[in-house]
Amino acid sequence: MEHPGTVGELAETLRQGAYLADRGLATALFVAMSLNRPILLEGEVGVGKTEVAKVLASVLARRLIRLQCYEGIDTNQALYEWDYARQMLHIRALSEHQVTDADAVDKLFGPRFLLERPLLEAVRAGDQAVLLIDEIDRADDEFEAFLLEVLSDFQISIPEIGTIKADSPPLVVLTSNRTRELHDALKRRCLYHWIGYPAADREVEIVLIREPGISAALARKVVAAVQRLRELDLAKPPGVAETIDWARTLDFLGESDLDARAARDTLGAVVKDRDDLEVVLDNLQEITSGARGA
Ligand SMILES: Nc1ncnc2c1ncn2[C@@H]1O[C@H](COP(=O)(O)OP(=O)(O)OP(=O)(O)O)[C@@H](O)[C@H]1O
Ligand SMILES: [Mg+2]
Repeated sequence: MEHPGTVGELAETLRQGAYLADRGLATALFVAMSLNRPILLEGEVGVGKTEVAKVLASVLARRLIRLQCYEGIDTNQALYEWDYARQMLHIRALSEHQVTDADAVDKLFGPRFLLERPLLEAVRAGDQAVLLIDEIDRADDEFEAFLLEVLSDFQISIPEIGTIKADSPPLVVLTSNRTRELHDALKRRCLYHWIGYPAADREVEIVLIREPGISAALARKVVAAVQRLRELDLAKPPGVAETIDWARTLDFLGESDLDARAARDTLGAVVKDRDDLEVVLDNLQEITSGARGA
């Protein structure tokens, strides 16, 4: 699909993919796409940072290429690796046939034995792809510096093969949970958008677009309760993902109301920390009474 012509169109396209973006997010994404700039999404846990990249790829009919970052990730896992196992087999075959010419040996480091990892894949796919660099804050400093280089020219040099360059760069979405501060240099290269928790009405809409079978009344109650949970000082406040899970769980169990009893029975869908559980149990009445009035 051609890329949407206005911010409103983009938001509408995302909605068709069951993603509700507020004006700020839709604008940031629209500008990122139009100006070929990577976009960095930071925000609370479970507020739709990863999902927006997936939905974008799907509604734009682009390939989603995901680089999941983690502690200790290195350039091999991100760019390319040589397929050692196949190289060894090939070498064995060569020696059995007593082949020793330089050409055959050169081929060992040719495209046949190259394993593409997400960044190389993305450079090859260019604007046919959405590159999701997920949870960049989990990778270490060196990796971030290396990423910065790749993002600045979308060009990868493989000594044995040559330089591969994207004709037009993919749409790049980076996400971070802010477990550490990212470097200014990386931020400067990207557009930035913070995704906070949605307002209650919006969150109800999100629940209903994701779980159309759920009654609006139940969705409202769940959202009201979740919003109260977020006001408590929890170690792991529930994200939108938990709101949806909770509503789905209650609906599955045939609960049409969220009272203290129903909440206690299903808390595992929304509170996932032992200490938090105690705080929540102490306040259940209040959390759900707010829900009942809503
Ligand atoms: N604006 C939204 N529109 C539709 N669905 C949403 C929205 N925000 C969140 N969701 C739902 O919440 C789920 C969790 O979102 P996602 O995994 O993208 O969160 P995240 O911000 O990447 O969280 P984490 O920090 O844990 O990685 C999604 O699968 C989706 O169902
Ligand atoms: Mg995520």
